[in-house]
Amino acid sequence: MTTTTFPGSPATEGRGVYVIAAHPHWRDSRVNRRMLAAARAVPGIDVNDLYGSYPDYAIDVEAEQARLARASLVVLLHPIQWYSMPALQKLWLDDVLAYGWAYGPGGTALQGKDLWLAATTGSPESSYHPQSYHRYFFDAFLPPYEQTAALCGMRFLPPLIFHGARSAPEAEVEAHIETFTQRLGSYPDWPEMDEIDACVACPVPESDRPAEPDDMAKLASTAFQAAMTHGLSVASSSANGKAA
Ligand SMILES: Cc1cc2nc3c(=O)[nH]c(=O)nc-3n(C[C@H](O)[C@H](O)[C@H](O)COP(=O)(O)O)c2cc1C
Repeated sequence: MTTTTFPGSPATEGRGVYVIAAHPHWRDSRVNRRMLAAARAVPGIDVNDLYGSYPDYAIDVEAEQARLARASLVVLLHPIQWYSMPALQKLWLDDVLAYGWAYGPGGTALQGKDLWLAATTGSPESSYHPQSYHRYFFDAFLPPYEQTAALCGMRFLPPLIFHGARSAPEAEVEAHIETFTQRLGSYPDWPEMDEIDACVACPVPESDRPAEPDDMAKLASTAFQAAMTHGLSVASSSANGKAA
């Protein structure tokens, strides 16, 4: 599957919804595939199938940042894999949410936008329980998503999780896709929107930024030059001293 972009129609312009869909094996998908198709059918929605767009994992960071800049709502659509997101979705976060752009000093590009997770699990909801094999309620796996949003100044909307995606009755799958589509089409006019708190501010001080390898090389080179200059001047003054 490839990227599909629907330019905003007058009716939807300004809503700016960007759906980022990630599934490593679309052909095997029962639910996400239909959610992707449903999103593509909503007018004015920008939809990106990450595995279709970047089969070589070479993410076009500039293009992705431009798409994010146009969006008010960013939707992450994927199956839960190992209590987290598929690898390419994670790489997308690593590459696109850059320091100084998405967070940290000057990193304000995403501030005030909304992040919405629409994910599926293979296991039923009952298995996400202290007395069952996943040992935790499903919410326990959400903080990395929620805090990623917060660090970027985004509001984390209540996620839409569909459990037991491989085994759920067809009627439940259909109802879920209907809810997803309705939400995409009606954003930001969701009933609960006014009750969702604004994002807490999480400024990252410049002093906490680990130096980049480039910065380290520059520092080393500057230190080397200073040492050389200092060495040369000591040598030259002691040579002058001897001569005097
Ligand atoms: C590598 C891998 C890891 C998975 N990890 C989990 C997991 O941690 N929890 C879970 O409930 N399901 C897990 N699953 C099952 C998927 O979440 C499930 O197959 C998917 O949500 C079904 O959606 P689909 O029909 O669109 O593929 C995993 C599947 C794969 C392939």
